[in-house]
Amino acid sequence: MEKVFPKNFWWGAATSGPQSEGRFNKKHANMFDYWYDIEPEAFYNQVGPDTASNFYNSFREDIKLMKEIGLNSVRTSIQWSRLIEDLDTNTLNEDGVRFYNEVIDEFIKNDIRIVMNLHHFDLPVELYHKYGGWESKKVVDLFVGFAEKCFELFGDRVKEWVTHNEPMVVVDGEYLYQFHYPKLVDGKKAAQVAYNLNLASAKVIEKFKEMGMHEKGDKIGTVLNLTPTYPASSSQEDLHAAEIAELWNNKLFLEPAIHGHFPEKLVAILTQDGVIWESTAEELQIIAENTIDFLGVNFYHPNRVKAPDIAPNSVGDWMPTRYYDHYEMPGRRMNIDKGWEIYPKAVYDIALNIKENYKNIPWFVSENGMGVSREERFMNSDGIIEDDYRIDFIREHLEWLHRGIEEGSNCFGYHLWTPIDCWSWGNAYRNRYGFISNNIHTQIKTIKKSGRWIKEVIEKNSLYS
Ligand code: BG6
Repeated sequence: MEKVFPKNFWWGAATSGPQSEGRFNKKHANMFDYWYDIEPEAFYNQVGPDTASNFYNSFREDIKLMKEIGLNSVRTSIQWSRLIEDLDTNTLNEDGVRFYNEVIDEFIKNDIRIVMNLHHFDLPVELYHKYGGWESKKVVDLFVGFAEKCFELFGDRVKEWVTHNEPMVVVDGEYLYQFHYPKLVDGKKAAQVAYNLNLASAKVIEKFKEMGMHEKGDKIGTVLNLTPTYPASSSQEDLHAAEIAELWNNKLFLEPAIHGHFPEKLVAILTQDGVIWESTAEELQIIAENTIDFLGVNFYHPNRVKAPDIAPNSVGDWMPTRYYDHYEMPGRRMNIDKGWEIYPKAVYDIALNIKENYKNIPWFVSENGMGVSREERFMNSDGIIEDDYRIDFIREHLEWLHRGIEEGSNCFGYHLWTPIDCWSWGNAYRNRYGFISNNIHTQIKTIKKSGRWIKEVIEKNSLYS
């Protein structure tokens, strides 16, 4: 049966500055640039961000390929560490300004809507060393200054802005589970960083309003990795575990972004555990008054949880996982390469959750995708990767998304991670996600079978199942 998507649906893909551009001509190092400089062995095959997918040099050809597969919208990010010359006074780096101007113009020339993000795990490392990074409210204000420069410089052409990508990953990766530099385990700092990132988003939105961007018809949102929580059983203990996992992993950012306040129950738990953040009445007011215009949802896999084996008052480092354990559901369908469960119905659950509990705010799938290793395995004699598994994955997610839209959820787009295979943090180039492959030795880029397939879907604005 034909499944037609809403008019003007955003069909596209997402990437980020630090994962595509390469470090060419960059004045400052971000957290990952620095981490690679001091510990290259922490990165898969010791491949760092130096070249990434060479977007800094090949953006015109790359955008042409994106056009060729029919994308009508693309998200990327402006690197703070590239645009700004003096991080304390927010003066501009000339080459950074030139580069982003040319990139934006090139997207527009190709009739591709450019959705611009301001922060994708790429805090300039100097601001961490000098002030403690996102632990510090001074850095929050410097970020607002950087955002202001972006709005001034590019606001005449960029119509949709995003404050952060997956801020929860900064909290988890840097302050709890040690998968991002500085790899701390510190519950109190983790909570403060979560608060400060929420505050930063609200303060940037406040600035956006002050600058009259809404009057020009521009919009600002945020991108959250919403991983729906599913309890292992309907026992009271598992349901309780799922409730707290949901509070920490999703509602900690979702509620302030849309409702303008933090979930009371979570605040009570963090207070009781002695890890609550420092806040002021004035800041909470800013958060209350500056909510988002639209939401981006990154969805890859569900989060299944069960009651924890340990008691919540256990002694040791504070971790949210004292309230829930991960649950490996027998019989789950897996992407074994990446180690993630495949569960497309979650997209429908997200759609209805937003409709019912989050004001039915306009939203889009800002990332979804399937990371597969050694994709050369699937290359045919013409050098094309036949990624039928990716086509199936996207199709199934789109089918569930379509059902959510039919039931009234206000979803306006779908972006795959990612247009062109790009560099991915510690995993470097291990997992490939793109519609377009990238030979990292030659930088030759080739459209995959999924790239040809999505073009047809976009042209018809519909799926046939
Ligand atoms: C998303 C991030 O969560 O996952 C991207 O926003 C990242 O930046 C993507 O690249 C895939 O991650 P990985 O580690 O599987 O390559």
